[in-house]
Amino acid sequence: MCGIIGYVGSENSVPIIVDGLKKLEYRGYDSAGIAVYGDEGFGVIKKKGRLTELEAVLNKNPFTSHMGIGHTRWATHGEPSDINSHPHLGSRNKIAIVHNGIIENYKELKERLERKGVTFASQTDSEVIAQLAELYYNGDIIDTVIKVSAHLEGSYALGIMCLDDPDNLIAVKKDNPLIVGISEHGNFIASDVPAILSHTNKVYYLSDNEITVLRKGGVEFFNSDKEPISKTLETINWSLDSAEKGGYQHFMLKEIMEQPKVLRDTLSSALLSGENKNIIDSIDISKFNKIAITACGSAYNAGVVSKYVFERLCRFSSIEVELASEFRYKDAVIDENTLVILISQSGETADTIAALRESKARGSVTLAIVNVVGSTIAKEADYTIFTAAGPEIAVATTKAFSTQLALLYVLAVKFGCKLGKIPPDMESSLIAELNTIPEKISAIFEHVDYIQKYASACISYKNIFFIGRNIDYAIALEGSLKLKEISYTHSEAYAGGELKHGPISLVEENTLVVTLSSCGRLFSKIFSNAEQVISRGAKVLFVGNACEVETSDKVSLIKLPGIHELFSPSLSVVVLQLFSYYVAANKGLDIDKPRNLAKSVTVE
Ligand code: F6R
Repeated sequence: MCGIIGYVGSENSVPIIVDGLKKLEYRGYDSAGIAVYGDEGFGVIKKKGRLTELEAVLNKNPFTSHMGIGHTRWATHGEPSDINSHPHLGSRNKIAIVHNGIIENYKELKERLERKGVTFASQTDSEVIAQLAELYYNGDIIDTVIKVSAHLEGSYALGIMCLDDPDNLIAVKKDNPLIVGISEHGNFIASDVPAILSHTNKVYYLSDNEITVLRKGGVEFFNSDKEPISKTLETINWSLDSAEKGGYQHFMLKEIMEQPKVLRDTLSSALLSGENKNIIDSIDISKFNKIAITACGSAYNAGVVSKYVFERLCRFSSIEVELASEFRYKDAVIDENTLVILISQSGETADTIAALRESKARGSVTLAIVNVVGSTIAKEADYTIFTAAGPEIAVATTKAFSTQLALLYVLAVKFGCKLGKIPPDMESSLIAELNTIPEKISAIFEHVDYIQKYASACISYKNIFFIGRNIDYAIALEGSLKLKEISYTHSEAYAGGELKHGPISLVEENTLVVTLSSCGRLFSKIFSNAEQVISRGAKVLFVGNACEVETSDKVSLIKLPGIHELFSPSLSVVVLQLFSYYVAANKGLDIDKPRNLAKSVTVE
């Protein structure tokens, strides 16, 4: 959570930083701030609220500087307020820092500093970093950063300026992402690529405990013993366009609409040629006796869908799916015969990272499905395959989820073949089916007007339930999560057969029950469940390709294109995403930045 950016170069850093913060706002948006280097001291402006609040103050107090750092915050320690916003300065105003992460031992450090007479201005954990840096500063900022880092427990990506050092911007990281971008006019640090993409696509990925020193004309890297190290410069192939809204009202809608393209790219990367394909082909699944899938939020839901697919196509005896926040503490029964699959858009989710490390510590082989190249999970997993979703800016995931599913499908098909559970002719027909997903999603887009109209009539529902059986239940989980996170409508997902075991008591007049129905063999069962809620006053929206229902004032239908049942979640989810989007849009909500959420959950 939180986004940081820094710039040193020949241009005015202020608009560069503000523009970068706009691209990072998805990481946190309860307050923002900027500090720039000035001969008379740092110029600092910090404002609670959205970035526009900060911009308004900056417009009234314009300043210029060749070097600055900026921050957009998702509060963890200390409420969102001007004073708790970053950057934080030491009491002598000599060192300014921006921090993404959590300092777990901040209380202890703060007490020590207070005993030495240091007065704190904020309630944040981050301020201890600035205060500690001032305490240890001995004229050499790199020595200081090394010494400070040695005292910090927790996670951090830090941008640091020192008043004695007009030329150098310093950064260091541990367990939170940080990239270094280089351009003709100057150099950057940032939490993520979109923040600097309008200036450069040439980046270095900083690894844990590495320190970087940026100046106008160059960049240097050091290890924690202050020895110079060399790093590989990478080229990002994301277009600038992919990090902009491109005429859509919200990133979320744009990202929903991008799904046919990114799915085509992801499927071909896994099926035709390239690193994804090589990795998938190289995994000898027969070596393992268990697959454990773990992730958080929507990525976990993708894992739940995939469990049904792995079970059906691989007939593997032991397949588990577990929330990473539970997995990490459950004393998982895994060993070197377990393949642990980790799923993460950002590659930086704290619980998923912890699950990865726990799995490795127990000798399991780890396979990560990640969107962000250079992220912690991507780097630490034994194998990493990448979703070709491009930058996903809206906090609620759509295209990353769909591409995760696509890679999981490919894994299941390929593993099923290697295990001898899928004959070659069935493999080719499954792959042919998979390749129809993009065009079938485009066909769903022809019904956007209907979905929009239907959703606009749903804004007053207090409760919306999602039901399904088998794989339809798995995707119902994602429909429900999507709706609640962006429209703030209370929503739950239930397996159809569970309704009568309790949840049906919640059904009354004016309850909407979205009924997923692409499992043909179970249609009569889910239809009965739908009838049971209709007879208790609920309205039902069927979404699926297996349903033949008569519509009425109580019953509506969004019929999906036909597809293999196991791949139907890829189609259903698009309707569920659009439905949630339009409910939220009709409520006039801030869809790309839902309250209390952040894109990258880098804290527990
Ligand atoms: C929901 C959503 C979140 C993420 C979850 C995991 O729309 O986006 O539930 O799926 O926070 O994030 P990653 O995939 O980055 O590990």
